[in-house]
Order: sequence, then C-alpha cells, then structure tokens
Amino acid sequence: MKKFARIIGTGSYLPPKIITNEDLEKTLDTSKEWIVTRTGIEKRHIVENQSNCELATIASQNALKAANISPKELDLIIFATTTPDKIFPATATVLQKALGASCPAFDLQAVCAGFIFALTTAEKYIKTNSANKVLVVGSETLSRIVDWTDRSTAILFGDGAGAVVLSSDLNAGILNTKLLSDGNYLPSLQVNNNYINQHGFIQMSGNEVFKAAIKHLSILALETIKENNITVDEIDYMIPHQANVRIITAIAQRINIPMDKVIVTLKDQGNTSAASIPLAIDKAVRDKRIKKNNILLLIGIGAGFSWGSVLLRF
Ligand code: ACO
Repeated sequence: MKKFARIIGTGSYLPPKIITNEDLEKTLDTSKEWIVTRTGIEKRHIVENQSNCELATIASQNALKAANISPKELDLIIFATTTPDKIFPATATVLQKALGASCPAFDLQAVCAGFIFALTTAEKYIKTNSANKVLVVGSETLSRIVDWTDRSTAILFGDGAGAVVLSSDLNAGILNTKLLSDGNYLPSLQVNNNYINQHGFIQMSGNEVFKAAIKHLSILALETIKENNITVDEIDYMIPHQANVRIITAIAQRINIPMDKVIVTLKDQGNTSAASIPLAIDKAVRDKRIKKNNILLLIGIGAGFSWGSVLLRF
C-alpha cells in the first residue's frame, strides 16, 4: 500500500537579540532605505551565547509538542545546517541527546537548500518503511560566518531554527520532490576557508546569485506544477527560501501566483539559510494561514548551487 510522509507538527525558535537596519547603518557604509528596498529585510535575530544546537533543541521541542509525540518515538533525526557547532560530532547527535531521543541522527549540508534536501531524504525513509516518525530540522547560526565589515553580505543573514515532525500516512503528505545541483556555481557563493584556515567568511557575487535564484527556482516551480498535473491555482501557499524579497516576487510573477499566497518572513528574519523554510512554515501554521489539507509548494536554492522543490498536502 502506498505510504506518504506527512507533517504532523511544526516548531521554530529565534534567538532574542535583534539587529535592525538602523544598527547596521552605524557600522557599515549603507542605509536602512538601501537595505529594505534592495532586500525587503528590516531586522534579523542573532545569537549571543547560544549554540546552533540550542536553537535547534527549542524548535524541535516545539515541533514534538505540536505533533503530540515523545522524542523516544522518533526513528530518525535529520539536521540540515551549514553552521554545525563543531566539525564533529554531527550536531544531530548532540540534538538527539538534548531531546532525550535514541534514534539514528545525522547532519545534512546543502546550505540554503538544506531543509528541502533533508525533507526529501526523510520522505524516502518513510516511503520505504525504514522509518515511521522523523524529525527534520533546519537550524543555523550564519552570523558566525558573516564578515560584519562587508556591507554586501552582513545585511542579509540572520540566525534561527525551524523543525517539522513527519509521520507515515496512508492518505496524503509529500506528493513530489525534486533535487538539483550544479558545482559550476562554486565561485559565486562560498565560505573562504580550508583545512589550514578553518574559520572563513561568506563570499558572494550577490547579483549572480540573485539572477540564478530567480531563473532556477522559476523553472523548477513550473516543472513541478506541470509534472504533478496541477494548476497554480490549486497551490494554497508557496513557501520559498527567504533570501531577497525581489527574488521571491520575481518568481511569483513568473509562475503567476499572487503574493498573498506566498509566505514571506524576510522582513523580520533576514536569510536564515536552511532554517528559513521551516521557520516560515511554522509561522504560517501558528497564525492559521496554513490549514490541514492545504497544498504547499516549497522551493529553495543555496550555494553549490543546490536547489529543489517539495510539493505536499499538509
Ligand atoms: N549598502 C549600500 N550599497 C550597497 C550595499 C549596501 N549594503 N551592498 C552593495 N551595495 C552597492 C554595490 O557596491 C553596488 O555599487 P556600484 O553600483 O557602485 O558598484 C550597488 O550597491 C549595486 O550592487 P549589486 O550587487 O548589483 O546590487 P543588487 O541589486 O544585486 O543587490 C544583493 C545586492 C542584495 C546582495 C542581491 O544581489 C541579493 O540579494 N542577492 C542574493 C544573495 C543571497 O541571498 N545569497 C545568499 C544565499 S543563496 C540564496 O539564498 C539564494
């Protein structure tokens, strides 16, 4: 019998410290008007003394509570992150202990597309009867790899965590997944570290990333809609990775979906990389925009580049 992986609980967490555009004006050659008109971002949350795993733990606890299951019931934890607390062990295993879970746990790295890749992986475990309940987390402390003197990147990023619990379901859930990667884009967006200089910072050709994100995500969204024999009107909400509001509106225009059907959290959170999609899902679930049985289209792209889509019935 066909099995689906269905989201049964969502959770998120943002660290309390906020950096506004006005704060950045004081330290960088920029203006609050430039930042908000070019990106849509007004403020972002930044960690002070918390680790990435601490953010992920709170988001996961919130998701487990919403799903009404105990950590011991989990069969798998997948932790999407670009900013693990240590090179090893995997932050996922630290999270497993913090939650009091006892299942296998691993990290997955696909930068801003990390949550899409992790959700896709989790779905395959459920579909093949290898797991029944899976926790998928996207959690980041990007502020630790931002060069705070570089105005072209420092204005963009924020910290935070989002999580979903997936359970097997005989009726509905994830309907389709698509993943792509193209390593030719490496020079456009990377962290400039290596095994000698472990601590590097984000380096980016912003405009190249901007154009590629619009192009690839629009094509992918249109292909996903076509291959699944649905119309764009049947999508209740599109939840894109949150990088720049101009990227999001350009994609929405190209696929012809109205902006009131697009979940946007950029204004208050900035780009939280692998955390941005689960943070947006949780926000829209808790403010009751997303309802059971809604059709959601998730799309994300990140360094690599890697990009992908997940179409699901909530
Ligand atoms: N304040 C004022 N001026 C600035 C700033 C700033 N913070 N940053 C750049 N500028 C200047 C540039 O120096 C340039 O000046 P010049 O014309 O004298 O050379 C001018 O603004 C225009 O620069 P562009 O890079 O062409 O501006 P653009 O419209 O592309 O906006 C931005 C830049 C916001 C970075 C945009 O390209 C973007 O959001 N790209 C996507 C980046 C991203 O989110 N990457 C992260 C992860 S991957 C992903 O999530 C998709």
